[in-house]
Amino acid sequence: MTIETKERGKVMERQYPHLSSPITLGRTTFRNRMFSAPMGGTDIANDGCIGPKSTAFYELRGKGGAAAVTVSELMVHPETDGSHAYHLDESILNSLACATYTADAIRRHGAIPSLELSHSGQFAGTYMTDKSKQHGLAQWGPCDGMRADGVPVRALTHEMIDDIVASYGHVAGLAKRAGFEMLMIHGGHGWLINQFLSPLFNHRTDEYGGSLENRCRFAVRVLTAVREAVGPFFPIEFRLSGAEFCEGGYDVAEGARIAQQLEPYIDLLHVSAGTYQKTFGITHPSMFEEHGRNVFLAAEIKKHVDVPVATIGGLNDPAQMEEIIASGKADVVYMGRALLADPYLPRKVVENRTEDIVRCLRCFTCMAERAATSTRRCTVNPIIGREMEGDEVVPVAAVRRRKVVVAGGGPGGLYAAWTAARRGHDVVLLEKEDQLGGILKSEQALPFKHEMYELTGTYERFCRAAGVDIRLSTEATPELVEELGADALIVAVGSEPLVPPIPGLNGPNVIVVNEYYRHADEVADDVVVMGGGLAGCECAVHLAQEGKRVSLVEMRDALAPDANVRHRPLLMAQIEQLGVDVRLGHQALSVGEGGVTCKVGEDEVLVPGATVICALGQRSRTATVESLRDAAPFVRVIGDAARVGTITNAVYWGYHAALDI
Ligand SMILES: Cc1cc2nc3c(=O)[nH]c(=O)nc-3n(C[C@H](O)[C@H](O)[C@H](O)COP(=O)(O)O)c2cc1C
Repeated sequence: MTIETKERGKVMERQYPHLSSPITLGRTTFRNRMFSAPMGGTDIANDGCIGPKSTAFYELRGKGGAAAVTVSELMVHPETDGSHAYHLDESILNSLACATYTADAIRRHGAIPSLELSHSGQFAGTYMTDKSKQHGLAQWGPCDGMRADGVPVRALTHEMIDDIVASYGHVAGLAKRAGFEMLMIHGGHGWLINQFLSPLFNHRTDEYGGSLENRCRFAVRVLTAVREAVGPFFPIEFRLSGAEFCEGGYDVAEGARIAQQLEPYIDLLHVSAGTYQKTFGITHPSMFEEHGRNVFLAAEIKKHVDVPVATIGGLNDPAQMEEIIASGKADVVYMGRALLADPYLPRKVVENRTEDIVRCLRCFTCMAERAATSTRRCTVNPIIGREMEGDEVVPVAAVRRRKVVVAGGGPGGLYAAWTAARRGHDVVLLEKEDQLGGILKSEQALPFKHEMYELTGTYERFCRAAGVDIRLSTEATPELVEELGADALIVAVGSEPLVPPIPGLNGPNVIVVNEYYRHADEVADDVVVMGGGLAGCECAVHLAQEGKRVSLVEMRDALAPDANVRHRPLLMAQIEQLGVDVRLGHQALSVGEGGVTCKVGEDEVLVPGATVICALGQRSRTATVESLRDAAPFVRVIGDAARVGTITNAVYWGYHAALDI
């Protein structure tokens, strides 16, 4: 990593002085206002110990310049929380040691290690890979009841509450001993403390239910126990959902009153939003939401308290974050996903290098990967979840400088070219078209995916700065690759749209989805999108947002099976809210001026629409791949060219292809 050298004899003039300025909480000084939000570790052992992969995961954000790095969701009371998440227990061999290694790994880079203490309450076991196991766990909440998924919940007794409160204190003491210098008490997102605060969950009639003061009692007792354990000057942070955004939940006015009740016990009030279970796309603002859509909650609550306030939610733009601090809407900004996409974001802000920031796409690969494989990945950062395999900043320098040709300027090709160039190789990137980006070019027409489109520009800048010779309108042929004297060839030629031989599909009213960006203004007011995969669904959402009448025709009985498990429900909600006419089980027979004729069971139905978007999938450019197989001694095929899949794969494979040369 290069550091801009400042002019001699002059103090560094920070481009974002508010974001870059320190803050003191308790008696701890944090180097800037950018804190890393809790994001769950992955290699948690069955005894609840955190593993080295998770430690490396957190360490990277310490290295990247965040002022605090929060280690997520330590389960304070395994007896009532059920699943085998991370916990801290001196009776478990190595438990304290593992926590200490993690705290150390963060602290040695100048960041303050913080630990989030949590209890899931009636949602115990949410993070289990096998969700059916949750149903076998005892679910304890403020009161007896039934969860929406039919799982019974039992009310915590007074003895259990006392025991849980004591556990918070006990674990807080252990965390301090392990080297954590701040604690985040998780009181938001629908977990146990939130369940007590919330009129939606809490119907108790004893001293823990009813009035606001009573609903806050459990939180106050927890905070008091933690304070007793850690002493007066140790920063304690409370994570609150500023509003619950659901019927029966509390609103921001009540959020402010809750904050006032808790204020005497804390050093930082962290204002998040909503609940994991009911408002996932608000708690983790999706690509369909504005950046910083929850900042207003922090700003409103800040008017009613004196304690410093933090905000969070879809933040990744330094200018926006600077304004938040400068205007006094909040004192600290937290980022989750933005620091997976670019762990070095805080350093880049402080060092005036913000043009080098890789922006989060809000694609939810990070969270979906945990659900699918219990690991983490990030689409734009191949190191995430695999930090121990290397460091994205300085990939191991090559022993010998080689001539590397990359065929294809999509995300995988660009990442491969950049990585190879950073290793010291002499790299030429050949792109057949007159623009880089490959399949990402099509995203420019969809405003909610602008960050995905802009990724090309970011990677292109990195390539050019690293000295990659980019040649547009130049197709990679075996002859050219040989002429260039390639020692290594990375084939990243991507995929092409599938256009099956359906009569009329080559007609003048048909636009292939990848080409939609070139023809957006030719689209009529009523459109049929053929193909309900991810690309078809996202295009349908965009067209409906534009005010068009959209029918979405799909042969199978479900939409977007290729979307990840976190993005898919949010996409489906958009389709529903925007009134897209979804036609499942419709097999397209022919396309005409009036729309698409489909077979539905034994019947033929015309789905009307003057424009037809063809989104029937992609296939690898196999012929090109085959033609290049022997064009250099080292040949690696990556991304869609190898197997049609995700940008995540393309970037990950491209990175490793370049490391393997
Ligand atoms: C991969 C991932 C894991 C998360 N794990 C936790 C967690 O364990 N505890 C928690 O309180 N929040 C967790 N969150 C929520 C974040 O802390 C944060 O509130 C949310 O992502 C919104 O911030 P962002 O838009 O900057 O990502 C997680 C978020 C992500 C993306």
